Amino acid sequence: MKLLAPSILSADFSELGRQIRLSELGGADWIHCDVMDGHFVPNITFGPDLVKAVRKSTKLVVDVHLMIENPEKYFDAFAKAGADYITIHSETVSDLNESIRKIKDAGVKAGVSIKPGTPVSRIAEAAGEMDLLLIMSVDPGFGGQSFIESSLSKISEAVSLRKKLNARFIIEVDGGITKNNIQEISAAGCEVFVAGSSVFRNENITGAASELKNLLK
Ligand code: DX5
Ligand code: ZN
Repeated sequence: MKLLAPSILSADFSELGRQIRLSELGGADWIHCDVMDGHFVPNITFGPDLVKAVRKSTKLVVDVHLMIENPEKYFDAFAKAGADYITIHSETVSDLNESIRKIKDAGVKAGVSIKPGTPVSRIAEAAGEMDLLLIMSVDPGFGGQSFIESSLSKISEAVSLRKKLNARFIIEVDGGITKNNIQEISAAGCEVFVAGSSVFRNENITGAASELKNLLK
């Protein structure tokens, strides 16, 4: 399974619905929504109301990436807004298993993300419970940064850990993915590819998405 998840962070919000549809025509599988609070990361983006608008504009999987402190306060709001996946940062909670349980109680699939400086071993305690591991391949906060090469070995490590623990989480990678590195990232074991600027900062959104998708075949 190789899925493309365009990140709306780099989209033009004044025509969000149309741009999401253009990416869908190019073969997008999920729509990735980056929620930032100005505390966990320096940038501020949007909250549940915008996710609700995304939900209304597509039937694709809505993948919500919470880069916020105290994420638990907002699980219900994002679930109600129509999220299919809610991913929290491992660095923002003390008990991963408890947070995962709360996401699932809200009726949503649960993901856990690690920043570039956080080791894969951080998620071992929750590996059996989580639905998705999101490996950040840039420092969270902004689109358009370059892929951090050492993320490749973290992806392979995650594949090994999943096997060793007999876990089933999907492996997603986020940050700096382009047509020039997507195949290498795929070969390392990534299954869901988040791509912001390489899809939405292209004049031809449909063409850019389909080019990335074709490289995954
Ligand atoms: C960064 C976000 C990413 C971002 C990726 O903190 O989590 O999802 O949109 O953007 P690109 O693909 O431009 O690196
Ligand atoms: Zn993201």
